[in-house]
Formats: sequence, C-alpha cells, structure tokens
Amino acid sequence: MDSPFEVLGVSPDADEDTIEQAYREQVFEAHPDHGGSAAAFQRIRRAYERIQAGYDPDTDDAGSPAEAENTPEPAEPDPVGVPVQYLDYRALADHGWELTDADLFEKAADTDLEVGDYGEFRAEPGQPLLEAAEEAGHAWPFACRGGACTNCAVAIIDGEMPMHSSHILPQEWIDRGVRLSCVSAPVSDGMKVVFNVKHLPGLEELLLPASRFDKARSSGD
Ligand code: FES
Repeated sequence: MDSPFEVLGVSPDADEDTIEQAYREQVFEAHPDHGGSAAAFQRIRRAYERIQAGYDPDTDDAGSPAEAENTPEPAEPDPVGVPVQYLDYRALADHGWELTDADLFEKAADTDLEVGDYGEFRAEPGQPLLEAAEEAGHAWPFACRGGACTNCAVAIIDGEMPMHSSHILPQEWIDRGVRLSCVSAPVSDGMKVVFNVKHLPGLEELLLPASRFDKARSSGD
C-alpha cells in the first residue's frame, strides 16, 4: 500500500498545516463534482486519516491495515456527536417524493436505497455538516467551502443547524429550512437532512459553478 504521505504528495516531515492544505487541495480535485471519482476521493480521505492516526513512515506501525489485522479489536466506544440521517435529493425525483412529505424519511427507510443516497452518520459537536459527511466517507457537493456559492446546500427536515458566519443564502431560503452545510453545524439532538438540493428551482439561480473556484484556487497557487 502507498504511503499516505505519497498519496497526499507531501514529505513525511511536513507540518500539520502543510498536510491539511495538501489534503484540502487533493480532496477538492478528487471530488466527483470536479472531475474526480469516488474511489480517488476515498483514497485521499483514507491517507489523511492514516496520518491523523499517527502513521509512522519509518515503522509503518500505525494506521496500516496489516497492523489492524493483528491488533485485538478495542472496545466499541460510546457514540459521540449528533446522529444525522441523510437522503439524496436526486432520490426524491426518482421515487416521486417531495421535500414536504411528512413521511419522507420513513419512505426512504422502506426503500432499497444505496448507502450514498440514504443512511446515517454522526457529526461532532460544532463540526460543519459537510465536513462530518466527508469524514463518514461521503462525497457531497461543494465548491467554495466558505458560504459563497450554494453548491453545498441541504434542506433541514428535522433538527436545527444555524448559520452564524457570513454567507450568500437569502433569508427566505433560511426560513424554508435550507442551510449551507460548509458553514453550519447541527446543534439539536438529531438531524434529518436532504443533501444535494442545489438544483431546487430558485436556489439554482444562486449557484456559482465549481469551475469558478477551481480557477480561483489555481490562480492563488
Ligand atoms: Fe460554497 Fe458551501 S461550498 S457555500
């Protein structure tokens, strides 16, 4: 297996900021929305997680699958964070469902949806929803990661997720339960969200193409 440092394209001596910057850039380019693939996205995420877990380039004694196989299973820790049930907006069109359906998530639970389309993960306290989804291995849409484009918009079906920082979303959309997942974090005991709502009629007009941020990134390099 490749060294996680090689996957991220950084030296094993790189500091935390350099590693995080490399991860952000790589995961952005590997995202399926930006011409990458789910497999490439997951490979970069796994590399970053191995480094975070203390991967040692000299001994390869942390975070490697070989070691994991020989290590006794640790006791399962109590789950922490907010449980987030998610549903892909595209599944609504496929099944003739509406965001306003009172039993939307019950119908999703009774339907044989792919794990990328429907399921549950946990968000750490204060963690932006987009970041929590990515940590759970999901490739949700995004572009700017700073509240400026609406690519990461989600519809809140249940729960609370305030947006405190500056952002592009008009109040009328906030009142309708839409949030930008890159700059907002769950604060309730549980959440139900529909992601991928960037193409909702009306919201789509606020959408800035991901390519605009690609250009901004490359010109800033
Ligand atoms: Fe642009 Fe969230 S990714 S607003």
